[in-house]
This record gives sequence, structure tokens and C-alpha cells, in this order.
Amino acid sequence: MTQELTTATVTEEHTGPRTGWWRDAVIYQVYVRSFADGDGDGIGDLPGIRARLPHLKDLGADAVWLTPFYLSPQADGGYDVADYRTVDPLFGSLSDADDLVREAHRLGLRVIVDIVPNHTSDQHPWFRAALAGGPERARYLFRPGKGADGGLPPNDWESVFGGPAWTRAPDGDWYLHLFAPEQPDLDWDHPEVRAEFDSVLRFWLDLGVDGFRIDVAHGMVKAAGLPDIGASEQAKLIGSQVLPFFDQDGVHEIHRGWRALLDSYDGERIAVAEAWAPSPERLALYVRPDELHQAFNFQFLTCDWDAERMRETVDASLAATGAVGAPTTWVLSNHDVVRHVTRYGGGERGLRRARAAALFTLALPGSAYLYQGEELGLPEVTDLPDELRQDPAFHRAAGQDGFRDGCRVPIPWTADGPSYGFGEAAPWLPQPDSWRGLSVASQSGDPHSTLELYREALALRRELPGLGDGTMDWLPAPRGVLAFTRPGFVCTLNTLGHEVQLPLPGRPLLTSGAVEFDGTSTLLPAESAVWWAI
Ligand code: NOJ
Repeated sequence: MTQELTTATVTEEHTGPRTGWWRDAVIYQVYVRSFADGDGDGIGDLPGIRARLPHLKDLGADAVWLTPFYLSPQADGGYDVADYRTVDPLFGSLSDADDLVREAHRLGLRVIVDIVPNHTSDQHPWFRAALAGGPERARYLFRPGKGADGGLPPNDWESVFGGPAWTRAPDGDWYLHLFAPEQPDLDWDHPEVRAEFDSVLRFWLDLGVDGFRIDVAHGMVKAAGLPDIGASEQAKLIGSQVLPFFDQDGVHEIHRGWRALLDSYDGERIAVAEAWAPSPERLALYVRPDELHQAFNFQFLTCDWDAERMRETVDASLAATGAVGAPTTWVLSNHDVVRHVTRYGGGERGLRRARAAALFTLALPGSAYLYQGEELGLPEVTDLPDELRQDPAFHRAAGQDGFRDGCRVPIPWTADGPSYGFGEAAPWLPQPDSWRGLSVASQSGDPHSTLELYREALALRRELPGLGDGTMDWLPAPRGVLAFTRPGFVCTLNTLGHEVQLPLPGRPLLTSGAVEFDGTSTLLPAESAVWWAI
């Protein structure tokens, strides 16, 4: 069935029950290559994930987001897709994907898959045909170069990974790639590109997935005429201003079309935008009622450990998404950024802050995204040998994303074994020796462990009616301390490097550090968060 859907064709009878499950969902990101290796080749895969799904269930997640596992030459960790309907043999087969979705559903977990619509792989049949001079060329952005012999790129755009955003094809024209040369950008003005992605979405929806994480959701539409920017170091401008290749208004029409498509399926399928927008207000445009359900809140992720700035960011995020009726998302880490234990200073201090930040964000209204291993308090691995690094940004000089292998090291499950339970073989990136003590098995049952802190936080989040979706109010607090209340509940965060005395807010439920209290007051430990029942 390839019926074209417009908003007008979608009626209530096409849609399933609207539960709004995503408004307060805790969604766990699995970086497929680094989660669990089922076939002993040192690389994570779908059967490996399926076998480890009980971990997500025990943790208390509502859904899992899987990074791309489609057929790919892996020039950018699978974000270079050669066939959107095939599972790369590295990760398993289509029937493994089907089994994984079914097993997740059996456990009560929803499954979100990554979709990469801004670019394909240079090995995608369309691009190969385009290079051979076929009509498929019109589905990409080929342009003649500048200069006497066309030897200069068509404009001054730079790749996010460093270097020019253009590569010259053998016939002399140049093609655009906002990321690596192996990731040619599609031309979304071409109707066949739009039709193809509708069909790809349907393929995975028909298989039963519950939604999509949309890669570079702000990038598909480029400004007419592809104008120069007139500035270098453009990657640093991303997220601070609208660029001719990012956050163009035209992307919203695409998202509206996809929302209609999602709504035509039962079971409330969702989409979350990876969109780097210059302000919370522009980000909120992606989650208007007829567009996507959620967008990652990178404003909070990039916010310093500073109470005032954190409070401003929370306010700005809630105000912007609230204005369009959408929930905010809270995310501290993902596969593109330095893990937050390390961003917050590393070592014991980094871990202290990371634990506190987790309790703080999990108490805020909205949905939360967790990145695999953050529940173990894993730090960034900063000493990987250069020859093992696979991030194209590393090999093309520091782009916006920096070097991203250090947050992608396979996670430890057990204290022993060649890869701490990740699989039978040595993992594709080596794990530090210290990870033995950070494994799931080592932390399980230890009430002071980060894993048990997350488990308890997620369990309470389910139990307490005041958490999840809804509203919050700030309470008066000394400088450096944040306190907010939700129905029946208070969260305090002490960002300072020393303890702070406060009037007792309530009965302590959960704390990221050892809190002291008597009948009337409490001593909040340095860099800690506490959940209180009131
Ligand atoms: C964002 C993804 O998260 C990142 O890993 C990837 O390199 C770029 N998009 C390009 O697809």
C-alpha cells in the first residue's frame, strides 16, 4: 500500500488510542556497536541487545532508541546508510530486528529506530548511479565549481566534521556533504526523495517500531541558491544562528508530512528530532502539535554546572515547549558528546555532579533520554590509541562534534571476561581496566552504586504521581542551590563545592550523596541532589 497521506486524510478512525506515553517517557539510547556482542566478533549487534533487554526493564526504561543498524560501509558509525531496508550483516539480519522488536514489546519496552534522511552513503545505489551520470543525480546536490576551471567548491560551506562541505566528482562537478564525503546530502526538493523516505518510514512502522529518532532533522532543506556564509569555523555557529544549511523553515513541511504518516498508524508512534536550533523558541517549532513529538534539548546538555544558568535553561526550555503544548526532553549525554561525568570535571567530582544532575533532570517535567553507560557512571575514555579511533571527525580534524570514540567504548556487564561481558572477543575499542568495578554485575545490589541510584530514581518516577509530565515551581533557595516543587514532591540541587544548610524540605526519598538532617533542617552535601516527599 503506497497511498500518499496528507494531514487531511488522517482522521480519528485511522489513529489508535492516544496515551501520550512519550510525554514523560524515559528513553534509553543504545549505541548498537557498543552495547552487547552476540556473535563474538567484538562488535555489538541486535541479538546481543535482545539478550540484554532485561537490563533496560530492570532499570525502569520505557523505551529504547537504537542507533542505525542498516546496511552501511560504516564511514560514520552507520550514519552513512547504503540500504535503509536492510540490516547490516555486522549487526544481524532483518529477522533479528523483528525478533528484537517483538521481545522488547513482550517486556513492555517500546522501540525507536534512527532514520538518516539528510544524506545517504556514497555506496547507496542512488549515489552510485548519480556518479555514473544517471537521473538519480538530481536527488543529490551536484553543482559546478567556481574559478576558471571549476576547480573551487561552489560555495564556502564547511563540513561539520572539518574541511570543505564539497567534494569534486570524477566528471568535474562537486557534490555537497555537510558531514563526511562518504555522506552525500540529498536534495529534498526532489519528489522522489520525499516519496522514498515515506516508504522507508512505513517499512519500519509495518515491522512494528514505535517511532523514529530523526538524524539532522534541521538539515534537509538548504537556502535557495546555496548562498555563501562568509565566515570560517562554521561548525561553531551551529546552534547559535540559522545557517543556509541548518534550521531552514522549509524543514517543517517535511516534519508535518511525517507526523501525518505516524498518526495514521495505531499505537501512537512518535518521532524525536535531533535538531540543533539557535534558541529554545526555534527548537519548539519542531514540536508544534502537527510536527514531531519531541526534540532533544541540547541547550541543557551544553549548559555549565552553574545553578543560575541551569535554572535559566530549564525555564527557557519549559516556556518554549510549553507554548506549543509539547513536553521538554532532558538529555545529559549521547554518542556525539563527551560523557557528562567527564564534562563535569571527571574523577570523583565529575561523578558526584553527574549523579546529582541525573536526579535533578529526572525530576523535571517531561521526558528523559539516557545514554547507555551513564547509569553506570562511566566516564569518557580519553586515551584511546589514534589507530583504533573510527570517528571521521578525528580523521578530518576537529569538527563540531570533536572526537567521539571516547563515549562509544563498549560497556562493561561483568567484572570478568575478555570484554567485561560485552562479548566473547576483544571489543572494537578497548575498555579501561577500571571499568571492571563499574560493570552492571559489580554495581547491582550495592545501594551506593550509580546503577542502583538510577534504578531507584526510575522506580520512584513511576510510583510518584507528581513526577513525569506536568508542572513545577521554583522554591526560594540560597545562591548555588536550586529547589523546585512538584505535586507531593521537592527536589533540591546543591551545585556548590561545600555543604549547605536548608530548612528541612520534607521526608528524604532518594539522595545522590549522604544527606544529613534533623527535625527542622538539613545539610545538603556538596554537589548533590535530593528528592523529598512532602
Ligand atoms: C548526528 C549523529 O548523531 C552523528 O553521530 C552523525 O555523525 C551525524 N548526525 C551525521 O549523520
